[in-house]
Amino acid sequence: ASLETYYSGLMFTGYLKDVAKPVLLGGRYDQLLKSQDMNQSGMGFAIYLDEAFLSERQTASLAIENEYLKIALPKGRMAQKVIEIFEKSDLCAKDTLKDNRQLIFTDEEHKLQFYLVKPSDVAIYVEHGVADIGVVGKDVLMESQPDVLELLDLNFGKCVLAIAGFKDFKQDFNRPLKVATKYANQTRDYFASIGQAVELIALHGSIEVAPLLGLSDVIVDIVETGRTLKENHLEVLKVIAHSSARLVANQAAYRFKQVQMNEVIKKVAQQL
Ligand code: PRP
Repeated sequence: ASLETYYSGLMFTGYLKDVAKPVLLGGRYDQLLKSQDMNQSGMGFAIYLDEAFLSERQTASLAIENEYLKIALPKGRMAQKVIEIFEKSDLCAKDTLKDNRQLIFTDEEHKLQFYLVKPSDVAIYVEHGVADIGVVGKDVLMESQPDVLELLDLNFGKCVLAIAGFKDFKQDFNRPLKVATKYANQTRDYFASIGQAVELIALHGSIEVAPLLGLSDVIVDIVETGRTLKENHLEVLKVIAHSSARLVANQAAYRFKQVQMNEVIKKVAQQL
């Protein structure tokens, strides 16, 4: 049963410092007892000992970096904009992230550590608690649904997730539509929602090439300036979703590093 039908009304989670995931989960079980013909309310919780003990093993290494707020940033086109915001709001020293071949940067003065990672991996670092906060596109969050807290819409990195193809594309209704994409979950959900049968072709990049070479009929991909589509003689046929950069936080770190984190959130928000 899903948690919502299992528990009734009250649900609670417990966290331990330095453990990325909840170590305790509980709530009221009225429904559960009713289903077993017991006319009374109940409440209980479980403690995840493996998570809690794992934390003990990790504590030694985490203690060294603990004083730093650890921030995962997306390499590439969004990175520059995020760095600009951090520098402008005096969250990090100017030129902290200047050497563009380095991937880990430390600002001793502000006690910040930045990790430059692949945009689609930012939320993974945050979910696992390796980074406390991160900047990630809503498109990535919608696709992979990581267990992170979404704190702020940063209002840049705006783009759409769209179906694109040749302008004069005519669908052959005698067979499923062939769709190439990096966004398999959202593509599947969208076409299911309109009752359209599709054959999904999962690619990792340069999606626009697929219809040019006849691998697919259309693509579902991110369109920002529209330049890539134009250069490949394709165009947007239908917008599926809108996206922009979001500031996200690790569930446990948000509760244990609130002072540091609120400072960052406040200063970043002032720049928007
Ligand atoms: C993204 C997307 C498009 C392009 C759209 O690719 O997959 O190819 O950007 O941007 P535009 O509308 O401004 O032209 P990305 O740069 O992430 O590369 P990849 O898909 O090849 O990994």
